[in-house]
Amino acid sequence: MGSGIAQTLAQSGLQVTLYDIELAAVNHGISSIGDNLSRLVTKGKMTGEQRELLLAQIAVSTNLESAAEHAELVIEAAPEHMDTKKLLFKRLDQICRPNTILATNTSSLPITDIAAATKRPQLVIGMHFMNPVPVMPLVEIIRGLATSDETLESIQTLAQSLGKTPVEVHDFPGFVSNRILMPMINEAIYTVYEGVAEPEAVDQVMRLGMNHPMGPLTLADFIGLDTCLAIMETLHDGFGDSKYRPCPLLRKYVQAGWLGRKSGRGFYIYEKGRG
Ligand code: CAA
Repeated sequence: MGSGIAQTLAQSGLQVTLYDIELAAVNHGISSIGDNLSRLVTKGKMTGEQRELLLAQIAVSTNLESAAEHAELVIEAAPEHMDTKKLLFKRLDQICRPNTILATNTSSLPITDIAAATKRPQLVIGMHFMNPVPVMPLVEIIRGLATSDETLESIQTLAQSLGKTPVEVHDFPGFVSNRILMPMINEAIYTVYEGVAEPEAVDQVMRLGMNHPMGPLTLADFIGLDTCLAIMETLHDGFGDSKYRPCPLLRKYVQAGWLGRKSGRGFYIYEKGRG
């Protein structure tokens, strides 16, 4: 999601640095932004020159120190592993200026816990974008136990300036979005696992019967099955309620490396490189 967030920030006029530990990942991010902007040019919503100027607003880096030392805001979009996020926030706390806000795009992990890895928990906040970021209007805003009113206000104002609608929710596992969405996706996977229907049929029922823009299994492939599993595990661990147990079929797919669009196979098979 990092590239979608970078694109959205740049489109509202901000200078952005896209950072990843791997050069291949930042290059992939930049090329997907380039493709998205080319689509806008083709549709006549942007000129080729505007596309170039916009791309020039996005620097790339694999060096966390130089990428973050002068940043006014950092938005982390690393994989959904608490240890990775804590390590990253601890380092960002050491590198960044004292008043820099550290936001996390986590889709389910406790903000309070991530904030506790820093000495600035008042400046740590959840800023949860939805995929595809340039298109979806929601940003779920989650304050940790120590997040200050000023931090909340600046992030709400920023979200509005990006053309998004910020909705504040409290810091509980999965927040609101994934506490509702992910059990539905998990249940859709159970219907396949139990032989109730084929994936195409499950998706058709939800698209045609409930007017969902994508069926839940197409959406799961779009989000990434590893992310879906991580979110179900966070809900299961966080609430200790068996209603959140991940479907064994979801686990099996992730073990097989069938992660959805990004790996070329999930509930459906995708052309190489798509997604
Ligand atoms: N990046 C940028 N723009 C994209 C895009 C992408 N990946 N995919 C589609 N778009 C744009 C298209 O260019 C098009 O723009 P215009 O209206 O300006 O022409 C617009 O979105 C609509 O696209 P399409 O006409 O191609 O297709 P569509 O009408 O089927 O819409 C969709 C595509 C918006 C993705 C739609 O299928 C949808 O809303 N799907 C559900 C998405 C959803 O539920 N997201 C939340 C996932 S959960 C999450 O992200 C949080 C989490 O923690 C897991």
